[in-house]
Amino acid sequence: TKTPMHVTVTGAAGQIGYALLFRIASGQLLGPDQPVVLRLLEIEPAMAALEGVVMELEDCAFPLLAGIETTSDLKVAFEGTSWALLVGSVPRKAGMERKDLLTVNGGIFGPQGEAIAAHAASDVRVLVVGNPCNTNCLIARSHAKDVPDDRWFAMTRLDQNRAETQLAKRAGVPVTEVAQMAIWGNHSSTQFPDFENATIGGRPVPEVIADEAWLRGEFITTVQQRGAEIIKARGASSAASAANAVIDSVRSILEPTPAGDCVSLSVVSHGEYGVPEGLVFGYPIRSDGSRCQVVEGLPHSPFAQEKIQATTAELLEERAAIADLLA
Ligand code: NAI
Repeated sequence: TKTPMHVTVTGAAGQIGYALLFRIASGQLLGPDQPVVLRLLEIEPAMAALEGVVMELEDCAFPLLAGIETTSDLKVAFEGTSWALLVGSVPRKAGMERKDLLTVNGGIFGPQGEAIAAHAASDVRVLVVGNPCNTNCLIARSHAKDVPDDRWFAMTRLDQNRAETQLAKRAGVPVTEVAQMAIWGNHSSTQFPDFENATIGGRPVPEVIADEAWLRGEFITTVQQRGAEIIKARGASSAASAANAVIDSVRSILEPTPAGDCVSLSVVSHGEYGVPEGLVFGYPIRSDGSRCQVVEGLPHSPFAQEKIQATTAELLEERAAIADLLA
C-alpha cells in the first residue's frame, strides 16, 4: 500500500469544508488507491464545530482515511503537506469596503504562506479558494519565495463549470460537448468567460450559438453573477459546487489535459498575453500530468481584449491595495 499523502484544508469547519472533506477522504481528490491524512485548520471559535465534522468523518469509516489532525496552529496544519487547500477566509460583511476585505485576508494569507514554505512537503501545491482568491494567493506566494511559482493556483474552475453548463443548455447539448472554456483574469465579477475560443462539439461556440448579443451580454453576466444569484436563492453562498470545483481543479492538475481542451486555473503570470508578471491570473491551462502551462497564441477580438484589460486592471488595483502585505 502507498504511503499516505497529507492534505491540508483551512477553514475546514465552514460550508465548503463540509462539502469537501468527505470527498477527499473517499478518494475523489487523489485517487482510489491513495490513502490520505487530513490536516484541518480552523480558528479557535470554530474548533467545537470542527470536532463534530471529525466525528462524522470517523463515522464514514473511509478505508483511505489514514488520519485526521485538527489544529489552529499553522505549523501543525501544514507539516508535511502535499496539498494546501486554502479555503478559510473572512467573508465580506455589510458595510465592509473591498479594501478592508483585502487587508483582513492579507493578514491570514501572509502567515499561511510562511508556514507552507517552512513546514510543507517539498512537492507541496497550493490551491487558494478563499476570496478574494487571486490576491490572497498572491500574498501567500510572496511569503513563500522558496516554493516555486508553478505550485500556486487560485480557483477559477467553478466559473468554468458554470460557463460550460450555460453554453450546453443554450445549445441543447450535453455539457461534455463543451471544451476550451477558459475564464480569464480575476475570480470576481470582472472575470471574462472566453466563449470566443470555446467549442461545442469541436466547433467554435459563436458558430453553434449564433447569437452574439446573448454571448456578449446575458451569457457573461450570468456566469459573473452566478455566485450572487445562489446567495439570493439559497440564503448561503455556493458550497457544494465550490467543493466540486476544488476536486476538479486538483484532478486537472494531476491528469493530462485531453487533446483539444484546456482547463481554467489562476496561476502566477509570467507575462503571457501581456498580463503584468507576478499577478495570479485566470488563464487557459494544459497539464501534462505533472506540469501546467498557459495555452499560448489564442486570438482575442477587440471585445475580448477590452474585457481582459478590465479584469487585469482590477487585479492591479487589488495588488496596489495590499502592497504593504507583500513580502
Ligand atoms: P464559511 O464562512 O462557511 O467558512 C469559512 C471558514 O473559515 C469558517 O469556518 C471560519 O472559521 C474559517 N476561518 C476564518 N479565518 C480563518 C483562519 N485565519 N484560518 C483558518 N480558518 C479560518 O465560508 P465558505 O462558504 O466555506 O467559503 C469559504 C471561502 O471560499 C469564502 O471566502 C468564499 O468567498 C470562497 N469561495 C470561493 C469560490 C471560488 O470559486 N474561488 C467559490 C465559493 C466560495
